[in-house]
Amino acid sequence: MKISMIGTGYVGLVSGVCFAEFGFDVTCVDIDAAKIERLNRLEVPIYEPGLDEVLARNHAAGRLTFTTDFDAAVASSDVVFIAVGTPSRRGDGEADLTYVFDAARRIARAMKPGAVVVIKSTVVVGTCRKVKEIIAAERPDVDFSIASNPEFLREGSAIEDFMRPDRVIAGVEDERGEAALRRLYRPLNLREAPLVVSSLENAELTKYAANAFLAMKITFINEIADLCEKVGGDVQRVATGIGLDNRIGSKFLHAGPGYGGSCFPKDTTAIAATARKLGAPLRLIETTIEVNEARKKAMAQRVLAALGPQTAGRIVAVFGVAFKPNTDDVRDAPSLVIIPELQKAGVTVRAHDPEGRAQAEPLLPGVVWCEGPYEAAEGADAVAVLTEWNVYRGLDLGKLKECMAGRMVVDMRNIYRPEEAAAAGLRHIGIGKPPAGDA
Ligand code: UDX
Repeated sequence: MKISMIGTGYVGLVSGVCFAEFGFDVTCVDIDAAKIERLNRLEVPIYEPGLDEVLARNHAAGRLTFTTDFDAAVASSDVVFIAVGTPSRRGDGEADLTYVFDAARRIARAMKPGAVVVIKSTVVVGTCRKVKEIIAAERPDVDFSIASNPEFLREGSAIEDFMRPDRVIAGVEDERGEAALRRLYRPLNLREAPLVVSSLENAELTKYAANAFLAMKITFINEIADLCEKVGGDVQRVATGIGLDNRIGSKFLHAGPGYGGSCFPKDTTAIAATARKLGAPLRLIETTIEVNEARKKAMAQRVLAALGPQTAGRIVAVFGVAFKPNTDDVRDAPSLVIIPELQKAGVTVRAHDPEGRAQAEPLLPGVVWCEGPYEAAEGADAVAVLTEWNVYRGLDLGKLKECMAGRMVVDMRNIYRPEEAAAAGLRHIGIGKPPAGDA
């Protein structure tokens, strides 16, 4: 079975590489010639642990190719995946489907009879049907199938997520579509990871509902953390306590500076906008978006409060600018709100991130970039931990204190044990727990 993957962004590239790893013949297509050239030199344009290795292996085996020749790739494929971007549309926040529809038109012109067109991009409900209409209008004589196969992989563990998913969602309209998806995912042990076969609409909605629920879960624990601070509680103990209830589950209950990344902010905004337009507003999700936005600003205030009344001229070391560890992605990262808020108050920000600097630098003018966390802490009045990279977890807190001019650590990911930080002479201000160490 031959596959083409239209779009070599995050989802497209990881999926293409992983399908090749399953043994299929995969052609990844992109209009960006420079990107394709780099991929052909085996240079991976994103930071994703393990991806370069799997890519190189499959490329060497001849199962994985990269091209800008859209028509040739599609013409020889049994299954064509659409994995192009669906950014938020300016103004109304709905997903911008221009790239999906453009791809559909081009696929229609080039595809062979009997092809299955699978939409992997995150698309609002009803898009698959529209894609079907577009293709049918272009090629009324040709028989084809449409399917929806949303992707749930997380940045930083994308390969593992693809190879060992909790489930695979297969939205289909006929047996040919179902058979194609069953065949594609046969290499997975589908007893452990069920294939949920359903309608196109159900599959499209499943993706949005899953992301919206997870965003809501994070936001819920963030608000509980605020309450813990008021009553002298510890959100980590509360999260453990509620997470042991199987109906709640222990994952996604880490309180922090608010969710970010390329999916949650965009997808929650899109589903909320669509739902409102259709007259079935998702008020819980609308509130989630609002609370999460406010949280990022509140986190900046927390750092400023730690500095005391005089903030101008003070120095804050920021540990981590990526929206989470093991990625260089800073899209919608809390750092993009928190750092400018600190700068507005006259603070000099010295920042470190193991991978995120290149993406963050153009977006965060005025930041002093440092090679390591100790260097960033040099002369700082406070340290603010924004991303829980492992390199920050193991720091020698005594040494950290020595580098600093002050002693405040605003630990937005609760990576340090408060009593350990206090023993090192630091004032630890975590999330959802009492501060530790002398004020
Ligand atoms: C997410 C979904 O998990 C994935 O299924 C979907 O396909 C794309 O969006 P990703 O954006 O890579 O994946 O990141 P994820 O690991 O889910 O984290 C999202 C954000 O939530 C991050 O900013 C993270 O720091 C935050 N988060 C997550 C918390 O603050 N607390 C948690 O307990 C979990």
